[in-house]
Amino acid sequence: ISAAFLSVVCLHLFNASHTLAGEDLLAKARQSFEPIPTAPADLPGNPTTPAKLELGKMLFFDPRLSKSHAISCSSCHNLGLGGADAEPTSIGHHWQHGGRNAPTVLNAVFNKAQFWDGRAKDLEEQAGGPMFNPVEMASPEAHVAEQLKGIPGYGAVFAKAFPGDADPITMANVQKAIAVFEATLITPNAPFDRFLKGGADELSAPQKEGLALFMDKGCSTCHNGVNVGGGMYAPFGVVEKPGAEFLPRSDKGRFMVTKTPSDKYVFKVPTLRNIALTAPYFHTGKAWDLRQAVAVMGTSQLGVGLSEDEVNKITDFLNSLTGDQPVVTYPILPPSGAATPQPEP
Ligand code: HEM
Ligand code: HEM
Repeated sequence: ISAAFLSVVCLHLFNASHTLAGEDLLAKARQSFEPIPTAPADLPGNPTTPAKLELGKMLFFDPRLSKSHAISCSSCHNLGLGGADAEPTSIGHHWQHGGRNAPTVLNAVFNKAQFWDGRAKDLEEQAGGPMFNPVEMASPEAHVAEQLKGIPGYGAVFAKAFPGDADPITMANVQKAIAVFEATLITPNAPFDRFLKGGADELSAPQKEGLALFMDKGCSTCHNGVNVGGGMYAPFGVVEKPGAEFLPRSDKGRFMVTKTPSDKYVFKVPTLRNIALTAPYFHTGKAWDLRQAVAVMGTSQLGVGLSEDEVNKITDFLNSLTGDQPVVTYPILPPSGAATPQPEP
């Protein structure tokens, strides 16, 4: 090997490690990612008001939206657990398990669409799903408005939230109010956000190496933008289908929505924001160790066997995506009265 060749190699290595620590890393990261905004934004066609926000919060925590009066949105999207439920698949009505892992509601407002298969276009549409889902909250369709009308105290709260409406207790308004509350569940100020804003020391050296790997290996071709994900769909198993424990062949993902053959086993690329808080991973919830999820992604999505050191550094980087958790004061809900519809088995 000639000295000239060696010096080229050395120069290359020097450049690579220089890139990892330097300004270039920040510049490159800024091309793919954006910090979480520090304040929530209005939803199109559904402006936030303090009264609507308060109502949305009440509904999110009110188990009387379920048939049993035992299950609320917060049962499966626990704000003390990163907006998820720490179960592989959620437990709903009659202790039934749904088919998929509950994604976090934190920063869901930044996702291009909702659900693993993107079948709801936004938070407002999504909020119409779970109350009537027989394995989630299991309420009969017409019942939710009837239930809320039967709770003395909600009438005034809905009237304040929707001042123009003659009969404000409707399913549409329930969905609007919940969406407004969810839009406030954002987690700014993660170490990675502070890094993106120029705080060079906000990431540790291994985290910076992990970020460089995350971009260089190709993770950021799918997990990018403000949510480090949530912006596109991709097959789970682009290069190699993962084992049936992670990808049971029965759940064909977005194909069930579009019926397009190329959408078989396609899922929404999930956000990796707060990923350290939301084990277990994948739509099956079968990976309990974030490092395992990272390694599976390497083989299934990129066709690369990541070394243990690379997996550890990427995981270190993912740990920098945990932001300030929303501070939510638990709402006091209007009590049931003698005429309130009662829970059903
Ligand atoms: C998905 C909110 C009730 C389990 C979602 C998503 C949102 C959300 C925003 C989509 C997140 C994303 O795709 O990134 C709500 C609200 C609820 C509620 C507002 C109350 C009205 C529940 C309950 C359960 C549950 C009670 C468990 C029994 C799930 C599951 C998914 C999901 C399993 C993923 C389903 C799929 O992709 O097919 N929820 N949720 N949710 N939620 Fe909930
Ligand atoms: C899921 C990380 C590359 C698409 C995940 C999850 C993690 C992750 C931790 C689990 C998220 C959760 O359960 O909430 C990574 C890393 C990558 C990488 C570290 C690089 C080594 C990619 C690429 C694509 C992609 C290149 C697109 C081609 C997806 C999809 C899922 C996912 C579709 C959902 C899988 C499912 O159905 O459960 N990724 N990812 N990822 N990622 Fe990646």
